[in-house]
Amino acid sequence: MHDAASLISPDTGDPGFGIYVHWPFCAAKCPYCDFNSHVRHQPIDQARFIAAFLAEMATMRRLSGPKTVTSIFLGGGTPSLMEPATVAAVLDGIARHWHVPERIEITMEANPSSVEAERFRGYRAAGVNRLSLGVQALNDTDLRLLGRLHNVEQAMKAIGLAREIFPRMSFDLIYARPKQSVEAWEQELKQAISYAVDHLSLYQLTIEEGTPFYALHKAGKLIVPDGDQSALLYEATQEIAGGAGMPAYEVSNHAVPGAESRHNLTYWRYGDYAGIGPGAHGRLTTGRDKLATATERHPETWLSAVERDGHGMVEQEMLGYDEQADELLLMGLRLREGVDLARWQQFSGRDPDPDREAFLMQHGFIERIGNSRLRCTPAGMLILDSVVADLAR
Ligand SMILES: C[S@@+](CC[C@H](N)C(=O)[O-])C[C@H]1O[C@@H](n2cnc3c(N)ncnc32)[C@H](O)[C@@H]1O
Ligand code: SF4
Repeated sequence: MHDAASLISPDTGDPGFGIYVHWPFCAAKCPYCDFNSHVRHQPIDQARFIAAFLAEMATMRRLSGPKTVTSIFLGGGTPSLMEPATVAAVLDGIARHWHVPERIEITMEANPSSVEAERFRGYRAAGVNRLSLGVQALNDTDLRLLGRLHNVEQAMKAIGLAREIFPRMSFDLIYARPKQSVEAWEQELKQAISYAVDHLSLYQLTIEEGTPFYALHKAGKLIVPDGDQSALLYEATQEIAGGAGMPAYEVSNHAVPGAESRHNLTYWRYGDYAGIGPGAHGRLTTGRDKLATATERHPETWLSAVERDGHGMVEQEMLGYDEQADELLLMGLRLREGVDLARWQQFSGRDPDPDREAFLMQHGFIERIGNSRLRCTPAGMLILDSVVADLAR
């Protein structure tokens, strides 16, 4: 039997401390994606990256001080292009710098096309205990449209292997695709749920500036569902996943209660995390302030900076209480459990503006959970950014 990683508990006020490591390469760039991912036609010098990851870890450890890690996340890009030995070296490095208890959640993102059973077993042996697979669609036409390198058959094989090898697994789907009907999505989602274990990430396609999809969309050559159709797709998603016992615990993340991603909860509960690798962000509390870090995005520029300075940070900003109050709201309102108002008051030094709160409540966008928590209703989640803007400062 697998040693299941420890599952989450309700919000106790301790959001945990996560470590994020970014692998910035992909085999091909998907036309919708604006993540920090790059394609290289030469093999990547993984030993050089290991050395740089370890050096930047040492810098982040100096900034964070001694801490107990509650989760690790290897994200990308496509981390499953890393050799298992690279993953092992990264995880060993983390354990040398911070206290890493046994059985904490260690997630890795993987693409179905970069799957080989041997690699998956290697990642598991290195310590990864949760896999997050980028499946995106369960029909070949849409996979091609999304520019993916895998087909449904490969996705299914990857899901099967992940289920066999890792104690925990999740996969991602993108919906609100061009010409997608509610009925077609409902069918696809039901099929996905039948393959899922206890966690799914279901993202609405976003047209990101600077991507090929953006240019096509602007030129009228890529038509995506309009606001009303998107709302119908979102509602169908909530109904079907909720009905199958996997309600949304965050805007796009669904889980059987108890199977939520511990690492992502740390972000949304506004805990601290160290961000290592090109384009990684971090939040490290020091006294009343929180240090916001961001590293150089371009992989080779980041490498040179780390080799020269011991880190690739290009931003180090101290956030005061007001800024932390805003960020806490921005992150916490994404969660079904909402935000702990006492914690928000601690940062902001005030109650939510009664008029604005009343207005949003009357319109059915927010609600109180008892006296102590505030959350978005499903309708509020659809206009999350404006709700946050209304309540903040
Ligand atoms: C950083 S990617 C990493 C996963 C992996 N590289 C992959 O694509 O299979 C994380 C997830 O973000 C989602 N994503 C990326 N760009 C998106 C967009 N423009 N709209 C909606 N979802 C997006 C995809 O579902 C993807 O799996
Ligand atoms: S594989 Fe993932 S990270 Fe890479 S370009 Fe595609 S969506 Fe982005």
